[in-house]
Amino acid sequence: MELKYRALEGMNDVLPEQSTLWHSVESRWREHCRRYGYGEIRTPILETAELFERTVGETSDIVSKEMYVFQRGEERYALKPEGTAPVVRAYLEHGLYAAGSVQKLYYITPFFRGERPQKGRYRQAHQFGAEIFGAAHPLADAELLYMVMDFFQSLGVPADALELRVNTIGCPECRPAYREAVRNWGRDNYARLCKNCQARLERNPLRILDCKECVEITTDAPTIDPYLCDTCRTHFESLQSLLKTLEVPYVRSHRLVRGLDYYTRTTFEVVAEHGLGSQNALCGGGRYDGLVEELGGPPTPALGVGIGVERTLLVLQALKAPLPQPAPIDAFVVAFGDAARPVALQTAIQLRHAGIATDLDLEGRSPKAQMRLANRSGARYAILLGDSELQQGTASVKNLQTHEQTTVCQTELAEWIKSRL
Ligand code: HAM
Repeated sequence: MELKYRALEGMNDVLPEQSTLWHSVESRWREHCRRYGYGEIRTPILETAELFERTVGETSDIVSKEMYVFQRGEERYALKPEGTAPVVRAYLEHGLYAAGSVQKLYYITPFFRGERPQKGRYRQAHQFGAEIFGAAHPLADAELLYMVMDFFQSLGVPADALELRVNTIGCPECRPAYREAVRNWGRDNYARLCKNCQARLERNPLRILDCKECVEITTDAPTIDPYLCDTCRTHFESLQSLLKTLEVPYVRSHRLVRGLDYYTRTTFEVVAEHGLGSQNALCGGGRYDGLVEELGGPPTPALGVGIGVERTLLVLQALKAPLPQPAPIDAFVVAFGDAARPVALQTAIQLRHAGIATDLDLEGRSPKAQMRLANRSGARYAILLGDSELQQGTASVKNLQTHEQTTVCQTELAEWIKSRL
């Protein structure tokens, strides 16, 4: 069949079999966030393009190359390319800071980036996100990192299949001197840099450090440690000591500068050893202590994480983690003769109201064809309704595994099935 319409490149349909996996990781994430004291926030898919230009940054790849932007009337809109900026916008718009305490918000959101699609990299993808507002202490960083690793563990991903990489990128006080040092180093090594890094040397030199093409060259680039101010150094040392206390294994990665402009101090990523190929970052996040203020709010330290849902599922599949199977239906109603068809429909509805997943033929098929459907459906019970059952107000219930058949009064049918599921 020649198909005229197909899903756009890099955008995926999720079919029922896969949906079961999605439901299971989504509900795990919701329950996990509930246990850690988060409330859910849902923000729109569209925002003004300016929101992301101001926060993620105009020179970032996400905004300058990948964002889906369109104009309608005077306004320029963007499909959200990430989840944090909309949450900060909502935090301010609804005055959530007025509560004065720490606020923890989680979400599950689609996001859109016009990247070249490949395994684990799509143009519409989904993130599990968590953001903490109002907590400056490194305890918050440690709790967030623990929570992320705990989530993967609760999904059955063994700790040795993952690597937590942690870094600090300083603050607006100490970072400019470091940025200048990297820029100077880049100028000295200009000819060895890839084309992309040559172009970003003046605008965004720190991104050179996490360029995959320039890995070998950047081994001798300056590290941030000598440039950190006392507050940033103490924060990072406390975080590392807390991670040790909590027995969270991590590696220090000097390259982890992240591709979004809003970060300050702590940055982190979890990479997976299996299942992702070159797109091996399972999640990323960090502090963004200046962002709320940048958008017009009161000074509010904040931090968060975004976990790739598709990548999480790829890792689970690669590790052959025990994945939930789609639950088959419980009962299939079979009508013997036309008179029984409306009763079959009523019976199915009655069973569904009682919480029993029930199906039936909707095409007026013969009893034999309906029995074939019942067997194929995976249902535990077939409910057989013919003239005699109709007259007596009963149903014949056939266990499709043992082939045993019982007569049950129609008024007791739902209870009878429920007690045997
Ligand atoms: P990010 O590192 O850009 O951070 O994205 C987070 C995660 O989303 C990545 O680690 C990856 O698993 C997944 N991801 C990113 N791009 C794609 C793609 N094209 N296809 C599939 N998965 C992808 C953020 O978005 C920040 N908002 C995270 C954050 C929250 N920082 C603080 N709070």
